[in-house]
Amino acid sequence: QKRIGILTSGGDCAGLNAVIRAVVHRAVSAYDWEVVGICRATQGLMRRPLDVVMLDIPQVDSLLMVGGTVLGTTNKGDPFAFSMPDGTLIDRSAEITTGYHLLGLDAIIGIGGDGSLAILRRLAQQGGWNLVGIPKTIDNDLGCTERSIGFDTAVNIATEALDRLHFTAASHSRVMILEVMGRDAGHIAISAGIAGGADVILIPEIPYSIDKICEKIRQRQARGQNFCVVVVAESVKTETGEPVTKLECLGQTRYGGIGQYLADRISAGSGAETRVTVLGHVQRGGVPSPLDRLVAAAFGVAAVDLIAEGKFDHLVTWQNRQVVSVPIAEAIAEYGTVDPNGTLVKTARGLGICLG
Ligand code: F6P
Repeated sequence: QKRIGILTSGGDCAGLNAVIRAVVHRAVSAYDWEVVGICRATQGLMRRPLDVVMLDIPQVDSLLMVGGTVLGTTNKGDPFAFSMPDGTLIDRSAEITTGYHLLGLDAIIGIGGDGSLAILRRLAQQGGWNLVGIPKTIDNDLGCTERSIGFDTAVNIATEALDRLHFTAASHSRVMILEVMGRDAGHIAISAGIAGGADVILIPEIPYSIDKICEKIRQRQARGQNFCVVVVAESVKTETGEPVTKLECLGQTRYGGIGQYLADRISAGSGAETRVTVLGHVQRGGVPSPLDRLVAAAFGVAAVDLIAEGKFDHLVTWQNRQVVSVPIAEAIAEYGTVDPNGTLVKTARGLGICLG
């Protein structure tokens, strides 16, 4: 009988609990394995006593539609440069590996984005433990996979926000700007923008000019459409490519403020009245969409099966309607931004949406 661990790492998103549930169902009912939930990403293995919880079907069965992660998570605390309360950075990777062996684990399923998976892979290689990865990120920017857990729900939420903004934009003859997440990639913005009928979609992969946006607003006005809905990814920079605001926080670099920057420039350039909505973490919370539940189920089952096959250092991915496994290193190396010549960009252009 095997004993496997499961952890969620990096920013939370909808669908994480659905994956935990799927893993427990498959491991227990198909293989009669034990599943240990590791709390707050790798920190559960760093703590003494270990911060872990045994998971069985009754505990996870009702988690399918619950948002967040019952195991907790963190996107701070790289164990190789762990920030201590006094500000010093120390390497705590050995404590995690000791934790893995203390638990007598045969393998760990790590659910994370590219940053988390890179750290988990390094830990596994250094500590001699077996890792299988499951992709999750609302940004959908991991290579080798068309889907990652949380993305579809985030697109649904952003689309609903755009739907709502249309009515108030039309009522007041305003330009409404919706800033959505996407730390380095514009997948949420382009998908929600098309689905939600935006007039302007700005993504970091395509340069833009304020003049063209103002031109779009004037064209609409000439047709009697006195309002405009703009969606912008948070990682879009100024027209000249500078970050709008750059914040350093706990060793992480954050950018922000593009929505307000655009609002000011668009008002100045077109005379239109503008308002900004920053959607923020609303995109990560809440009930997972049916598609995210489906992907979570397929990934959870496939990840457990990979352990049964002894195929480690692999990530389950979604390609051409199938779940296939690829080396984790390959998925991390092939970072997935929006293809400026891809179908979604062509579709947006085909609809007359201004991409800048
Ligand atoms: O990577 C997922 C993500 O939600 C990004 O879209 C966003 O920039 C970031 O995480 C926010 O992270 P935090 O939860 O640390 O604010």
